[in-house]
Amino acid sequence: MQTLEVQLGERSYPIFIGESLLAQPDCLLPWIRGRQVLLVSNATVAPLYAAQILKILRDAGLAVADVTLPDGEQFKDWQHLNLIFDALLAARFSRKVTLIALGGGVVGDMTGFAAACYQRGVDFIQIPTTLLSQVDSSVGGKTGINHPLGKNMIGAFQQPRAVLADTSVLRSLPERELSAGLAEVIKYGLIRDLPFLAWLEEHMEGLMARDPALLAEAIRRSCQNKAEVVAADELEQNDVRALLNLGHTFGHAIETGMGYGSWLHGEAVGTGMLMAADLSWREGWLSAADVARVRALLVRAGLPVLPPAGLSADEFLRHMAVDKKNVDGRLRLVLLRSLGDAWVTDTASPQHLRATLEAGAALGMMA
Ligand SMILES: NC(=O)c1ccc[n+]([C@@H]2O[C@H](COP(=O)([O-])OP(=O)(O)OC[C@H]3O[C@@H](n4cnc5c(N)ncnc54)[C@H](O)[C@@H]3O)[C@@H](O)[C@H]2O)c1
Ligand SMILES: [Zn+2]
Repeated sequence: MQTLEVQLGERSYPIFIGESLLAQPDCLLPWIRGRQVLLVSNATVAPLYAAQILKILRDAGLAVADVTLPDGEQFKDWQHLNLIFDALLAARFSRKVTLIALGGGVVGDMTGFAAACYQRGVDFIQIPTTLLSQVDSSVGGKTGINHPLGKNMIGAFQQPRAVLADTSVLRSLPERELSAGLAEVIKYGLIRDLPFLAWLEEHMEGLMARDPALLAEAIRRSCQNKAEVVAADELEQNDVRALLNLGHTFGHAIETGMGYGSWLHGEAVGTGMLMAADLSWREGWLSAADVARVRALLVRAGLPVLPPAGLSADEFLRHMAVDKKNVDGRLRLVLLRSLGDAWVTDTASPQHLRATLEAGAALGMMA
């Protein structure tokens, strides 16, 4: 087992990464301060992994309740968030309750937001079960839900007490979800860790084959990068944390434009990163060979590299206009000055942006 620490003063917390963590009571119980626990999961993950956690909790003599949400990004909304509050209130749980999120980023974001709101804030623990949630969403304290007019627009910062990334659970993950997680892994290489990008280029087939040691290393290096960024800019007050949004402004437009649940978040981010690379090339920062390198790695990770044909440049722009990074109506984008070096800028030319949005099948193919 490996341990990392997210350094946030009194809100610091550990991330544990390793095989079969869920079978070990010592990994979970020390992070529960009171006697009440609500386990939140979804209809896919609960049947696979909830029983062993509930047993650990009950064997420890805790008062335990659980709630199972429907599975899907389309249920990351007010109505389904309320199911968590219903369960908390039905069990008459107090401010001393600990919420445990068992699932992917959807369950993690919703549980964290419920923890931020319930009685104005209670403890929560992240047990991420997708690669994406293990390398990204479970770390950093961003929580929330979607609104029909914008993704993740309603939320709060709420840091977990601990994160348990058990690599064994990734064996049951559908391949498409594995690829989606790899998009966020590749992201860390592109924004700030060129040696990691090269490591990923060396090991992509092994990662796709779910080699446990390679997965653990990819998770560790991803969480290390995320933890450093979050420690430098917990509340996204300067542009450090915003770098984590590489590909996300384009990606959110794809997700919103196609309807939540049609493209996976990671898939949209993968294509979005290629669009960001393409625009960075048009701005003269990346070489055509750099963009082709990004494209090749995304393809090897099983990710789509074509934006949806049904989404026009105007629709893209309309969805991109609601992005949280925008200031005073100016579109701000995370782009690449070089591979491994991202920055936030509002200087990209509108003509170049439109060219990227209209490039379609030609994205990353000019080398
Ligand atoms: N808070 C943040 O900082 C942050 C960062 C990135 C993404 N996100 C959010 O995370 C969400 C995406 O997360 P995700 O990709 O984990 O999606 P997800 O939570 O929808 O999980 C993907 C699918 O895998 C299933 N699943 C989960 N674990 C499994 C397992 N071990 N075996 C088999 N099936 C399993 C889920 O039930 C679901 O069907 C989005 O809502 C996104 O906005 C948040
Ligand atoms: Zn993301």
